[in-house]
Order: sequence, then structure tokens, then C-alpha cells
Amino acid sequence: MKGIVFTSFISFLENELGLIETESIIIKADLNSACAYTTVGSYDFKELLHLILLSSQSFKITPKHVSQRFGSYLFTTLTSSSPQYVKNKHSCFELFETINNVIHMEVKSIYPETTPPRVHFKRISSSAATLHYQSHRCLGDVMYGVIEGAGNYFNEKLLIERNRLNKKGSEEVFTVIILQ
Ligand code: HEM
Repeated sequence: MKGIVFTSFISFLENELGLIETESIIIKADLNSACAYTTVGSYDFKELLHLILLSSQSFKITPKHVSQRFGSYLFTTLTSSSPQYVKNKHSCFELFETINNVIHMEVKSIYPETTPPRVHFKRISSSAATLHYQSHRCLGDVMYGVIEGAGNYFNEKLLIERNRLNKKGSEEVFTVIILQ
């Protein structure tokens, strides 16, 4: 997995919990990588899951809620590192319709070893759409937060509903309604 998701999680912890608490979580996690990832390096995503689990004790919220909060932060990291994808877009739906065929496709062509999630966008009306998420990493909670982050970015209030298509969560349909 590209290191940007991992390094973004570490900076999320630093921002939310401070440097000392983050350091103590990293030491407790005893990761093989010793956190020596760069934004363009690759890493084992199970280490991310381990850090989410450990940090939920410090946040005093469930791992699911840590993942969602992180997703929102990740959106900011991704758009700051690649502003060209949000430039000239006026709504989150305009961005969402480019995830599969533009954004993640370009990511894949630049870094062939990555496997970005498939996110199939389908517009139902001007204010409603579905995002069909498929990933072996089963990061639907992070996905939820990324959608929220996009709503905040475009100043759109979103109603997000999720429907898991299988037990492990490798496939989910998110229905998104823009309320205002
Ligand atoms: C704004 C520009 C974006 C860029 C540059 C970008 C790029 C990336 C990259 C590099 C990864 C890591 C892939 C890997 O490690 O194999 C990733 C993962 C991910 N992306 Fe995007 N992305 C963007 C927008 C979005 C949007 C708008 C969504 C959903 C609404 C999204 C959903 C996700 C999720 C959920 C992951 C986590 C990995 C997984 O679930 O398997 N991304 N993205």
C-alpha cells in the first residue's frame, strides 16, 4: 500500500494526540517497519490496522470511529498532495465521478505496485448518488470518513448511508445525499 495513507495516519495521530502519545503508540505497536515509511514507499496495511486499534484506547473512541475521523483527515492529505484533482470542481459528486477512471487510475499507472480501491460512482439524481466500494483491505470506515471530508471541503452537508455487500466488508455501497 502506498505510504501516503500510512504517513497520513501518523501525522493524524500527532495532530490529534500530540507527539509524545503518538510516540508511545508507535513503541507499543512494535511494528516491523519501525515506521520508516515515506509517502512513496509501500507498507503492510495490517500495521495500519494495528495502529488504529491501539490508538482507539488513547482516543477513547471505537476503532471504527478512529478510522472515520482519520478518513476525513486523509481526504485533506490527498487533496493537498494532489490539488489538481479538486481544482475546478464545485461539488463532491464532480470529484467522486473521477475517482475510478482518473484519480486512482493515474495513481496505479505511476505506482504499478499499488492497488487503490475500486470506487464506482453512479448518479441517481442531482443530489443523490451511490459509491460502490471494493477493496481487499476492507477500509469502509476510512472510506466513510473520506466521503465526509469531501463534503466538508465543498461545504456540502451530506447524508451517508452504508450497505455492506459481504460480511468481511470488502464490498460496500455508500448512498450519498447532498442535503444543502
Ligand atoms: C483527491 C485525490 C485522491 C488521490 C490522489 C488518491 C490517492 C490514493 C492513494 C495513493 C491511495 C493508496 C493506494 C494504495 O495504497 O494501494 C488511496 C487509497 C484510498 N482512496 Fe484514494 N485518492 C484520492 C481521492 C479519493 C476519494 C475522493 C475517495 C473516496 C470518496 C478515495 C478513497 C480511497 C480509500 C478508501 C483508500 C484506502 C485504501 C483502500 O480502501 O483500499 N480516494 N487513494
